[in-house]
Amino acid sequence: MSLQTLQDLFIHEIKDLYSAEKQLTEALPKMVEAASNPQLKQAFEAHLEETTSQLERVHHLLHRFEVNPGSTKCDAMEGLIAEGAEVIKEKAPASVKDAALIAAAQRVEHYEISGYGTARAFAETLGHADAAKVLDEILNEESAANEKLNVLALNTVNPAARTAK
Ligand SMILES: [Fe+2]
Ligand SMILES: [Fe+2]
Repeated sequence: MSLQTLQDLFIHEIKDLYSAEKQLTEALPKMVEAASNPQLKQAFEAHLEETTSQLERVHHLLHRFEVNPGSTKCDAMEGLIAEGAEVIKEKAPASVKDAALIAAAQRVEHYEISGYGTARAFAETLGHADAAKVLDEILNEESAANEKLNVLALNTVNPAARTAK
């Protein structure tokens, strides 16, 4: 990777996000399957659809800047997904497992929120208004996904896990 300019760094961030979203489209179906609470299953399913569309939009952005996704791999997302996979393998009461799945998923959302926030800021500084708008849209979706998981955890999954044996 050659980072000489803010534009280079911006493109690097977008490639990283592309890799993160791509890995997620492969990991989320396993989260859907592992979840027991129907609302949680549905939340993961809905975010899988959203993630597929985000991947397309990020790909489109790279295309617009005439860049190929290349082989940039988001190591952080790989690690977060590996932690999620460990939770999936774990033998635990359904609601405890659901709480653990939410914890893993929220780490992912926070990572994405951070990544899109940074990329949006770079786009704004560089005067890429259209790109900033797309990144802002995705950032809002990630925040909403995180909030949905928060509400599910606090109102439903955590209280159920508390009494699980
Ligand atoms: Fe995403
Ligand atoms: Fe997300």
